Amino acid sequence: MKALILSGGKGTRLRPITHTNAKQLIPIANKPILFYGIEAIKEAGIVDIGIVIGETKNEIRQAVGDGSKWGVKITYIVQDEPLGLAHAVKISRKFIDQDSFVMYLGDNLIKDGIKSLVEEFEAKKPNAQILLAHVPHPEQFGVAELLEGRVVRLEEKPKHPRSDLALCGVYMFDQSIFEAVDNIKPSLRNELEITDAIQYLIDTKMKVHPHIITGWWKDTGKLEDMLEANSIILDTFTFKNDGRVDDKSKIEGKVVIEKGAVIENSVVRGPAIIGENAKVINSYVGPYSAIYFGACIESSEIEHSIVLENSHIIDIKRIEDSLIGQNVEVKKSHSRPQAYRIMVGDSSKIEVL
Ligand code: DAU
Repeated sequence: MKALILSGGKGTRLRPITHTNAKQLIPIANKPILFYGIEAIKEAGIVDIGIVIGETKNEIRQAVGDGSKWGVKITYIVQDEPLGLAHAVKISRKFIDQDSFVMYLGDNLIKDGIKSLVEEFEAKKPNAQILLAHVPHPEQFGVAELLEGRVVRLEEKPKHPRSDLALCGVYMFDQSIFEAVDNIKPSLRNELEITDAIQYLIDTKMKVHPHIITGWWKDTGKLEDMLEANSIILDTFTFKNDGRVDDKSKIEGKVVIEKGAVIENSVVRGPAIIGENAKVINSYVGPYSAIYFGACIESSEIEHSIVLENSHIIDIKRIEDSLIGQNVEVKKSHSRPQAYRIMVGDSSKIEVL
């Protein structure tokens, strides 16, 4: 069995971060989302992994390399344009060859991994296995309609969903998916939809096995989802200190302090992670915060937020529910006239007091 991770696409809902960065490389609890997928696949015993890459190909190649740090073999498959999930399958045919495979969307997180799901697929040998989860807003996903436990219809982001069962971003296929992707037409949004390809399997009487998951799963395509994923993963941590904490500081609860991090005269209340060589000075870092490597929080308060590498937050009363990009500087201005002085990228969102 092989695996195919989809890491192309545009990430429009996470702009401006994704103007310059791959959304699959945004860290959740200080680890790029994509790495969780690679680890889950490895844990399921699959070592031959293809990664579909697009505009952000160089960045992903650089971050993942040849896969040797996980003991897997990575093959990169370049998709010139994000023409849909089924298109990504189509261009990966040579890599998949005669195997069955797991298709894993590179911006998805499944907390319990996929080992038992792969085992189930290998034991039952359907033509396809899809994962479904009950969700409050099914219209944002592919939606499945079941009848007596069988999948009868799939629709991509329907306005009026027929059920609350969303398709999660992990699928398992045998060779029949290649016939399906060759026989579907682009959707209204001009993508070859994997939901249409699976519908083709259903219509041609292939066996599509639905597995309803009850554990936690997240598509991290939006800010709120990313912050929630960050919180859920941070909650699984236990206290660890590989950095330096002075005796005027207080570390409470599940806090991970990575190598070279410095905490001075501050309170860090977990669950939280302070990345390599990050600094927290005269500050409060509250629950569900992930401060990535080289970042600096000085004379500020921050909670329920993600701060990416090498960003500086200085003299800011309080930040919450935020995602701050790389090399960003947010600081209080002491010059006159008093004013907000801002240089932000396109599609940014700022709420001021
Ligand atoms: O997360 C689950 C949902 O994922 C499913 O419920 C939907 O049925 C499925 O279509 C998909 O919807 P999204 O709108 O969330 O897909 P997105 O465009 O975000 O793409 C998912 C991943 O695949 C992401 O890592 C980017 C990558 N991708 C996407 C496209 C369209 C590619 O590699 N190539 C592509 O052409």
